[in-house]
Amino acid sequence: MKNRILTGVKPTGHSHVGNYFGAIKPAIEFTKQQEDECFYFIADYHALTTLKNKQEMQEYTYDIACTWLACGVDPNKVVFYRQSNVPETFELNWILCNVTPKGLMNRAHAYKACVEKNEAAGEDRDAGVNMGLYNYPILMAADIILFDSDFVPVGLDQKQHVEIARDIADYFNRKFGKTLKLPEPYIQKETATLVGLDGRKMSKSYGNTIGLFTTEEQLRKSINRIVTDSRMPGEPKDTDCPLFKLYSLFAGEEKSQEFAKKLQEGLGWGEAKKQLFEVANEYLKPMREKYFYYQSHRDEVDKILEEGAAKARIIARKTLARVRKAIGVE
Ligand code: ADP
Ligand code: TRP
Repeated sequence: MKNRILTGVKPTGHSHVGNYFGAIKPAIEFTKQQEDECFYFIADYHALTTLKNKQEMQEYTYDIACTWLACGVDPNKVVFYRQSNVPETFELNWILCNVTPKGLMNRAHAYKACVEKNEAAGEDRDAGVNMGLYNYPILMAADIILFDSDFVPVGLDQKQHVEIARDIADYFNRKFGKTLKLPEPYIQKETATLVGLDGRKMSKSYGNTIGLFTTEEQLRKSINRIVTDSRMPGEPKDTDCPLFKLYSLFAGEEKSQEFAKKLQEGLGWGEAKKQLFEVANEYLKPMREKYFYYQSHRDEVDKILEEGAAKARIIARKTLARVRKAIGVE
């Protein structure tokens, strides 16, 4: 049996190195294994929970689409689409709402974090929380379940969401008979959580990212902003730091062993940042060219996404028919 691999990225900002190593690269590696069937998409309706601006929605949607294509998604080999072009998702979303206990949503990280922040500020616990945010994990469960996904490559921050999807599929099966596949998160240990420029998790929402497809100059500037300790050139430095982590992801095993040695011998942080820039730039350059190609050929991107959605909907309709039959709505 072929495994189904599925993942999505929401268009809430420009894609960054954390998205790439945490989710996009592991996902693309699956496409090299002929036996797997892969589904990659742009989670634009998930972005709507935070984005309330037409121009930004359009810009970031193209950004994520061009990112996937530049990183090596081959639309002939994978099903590559935009979530909003697959309306079956939203019908399944509603059905799943009816087997999802409210308490499960109360425990979801993103919602809980909002409540805790509000309580600490002495505000109403639900201040600023819309129902899109509250129901976010159910929509994500619909994305995953609609394609009978086996594995979902994500960063560690999304683990809980995939587990919730699994729980929801299980609740459904208990009520209506075995209909839905139970998905599993696929998380690579070494890239589960990449650290950003300020030492916190790299995230669009913290403004601490290294953009994946910026100009060379912006890349250099971002790398220069990585926080380091105050050790001077000549003092030995350990490799348990974000700068080394990034170097090793871009440069691979052999080169990073040499780099570790140089740090231990006292390489200065300034010089270390220059060397990180060199390897990062070399790695990203060919992808950057593809990215800008697609950005200036958006009609090609639109066509690829339309064709992807058509392929996705053939499968989505079948799952939905199975679900409708199970609940008695045919
Ligand atoms: P962000 O937190 O920047 O808004 P998204 O929520 O859109 O990113 O994440 C898209 C994918 O990238 C998810 O699978 C997520 O787990 C992964 N990801 C995001 N940030 C990181 C990170 N710092 N390290 C590893 N994976 C990450
Ligand atoms: N919630 C994910 C994120 O913030 C994006 C996403 C939406 C997703 N639907 C998905 C990821 C389905 C994997 C599978 O990054």
